[in-house]
Amino acid sequence: MLDAKVSKLLNEQITKELYSAYLYLDFSIYYEAEGLDGFANWYMIQAQEERDHAMLMLQYLQQNGEKVTLEAVAKPDKDMKSLMDPLKFGLEHEQYVTGLINDIYAAAYDVKDFRTMQFLDWFVKEQLEEEKSADDMIKKMELFGNDSKGLYSLDSEYATRVYTAPSLVL
Ligand code: FEO
Repeated sequence: MLDAKVSKLLNEQITKELYSAYLYLDFSIYYEAEGLDGFANWYMIQAQEERDHAMLMLQYLQQNGEKVTLEAVAKPDKDMKSLMDPLKFGLEHEQYVTGLINDIYAAAYDVKDFRTMQFLDWFVKEQLEEEKSADDMIKKMELFGNDSKGLYSLDSEYATRVYTAPSLVL
């Protein structure tokens, strides 16, 4: 059995990861409508990764004999007015998620729940990667996004992203 607070936070995180998937799906839909299939592909794969994060949390709770309760996933509400907007919302969102993961880690640390801390180590590292890729996308858009050839080249780069299953296996 896990500590009640740790269990509750992990449970809530499932819904938050599913919201992340929903948000990135919305970004993907936005870019597809703008004719940028590469950006759309990048966020479609990101949505798949977020779903994986939720599944990992769910499996971890189940392995520990905890009850899982799914809550409502909120509607994505980002108002995207420019090609840059989703990228900036994405970075803000990942920074927010890093804070959530850190909060769960801190709760596990408080009760010497080393098992959950070890489980979360993967997420701590993943958040570093996710913040970095979100930041890189903003920088590249600032550098190349105002020029049609530059934008085409960026879109072509993002079209090459392929889904890979998470490296964390429970
Ligand atoms: Fe599940 Fe983008 O963090």
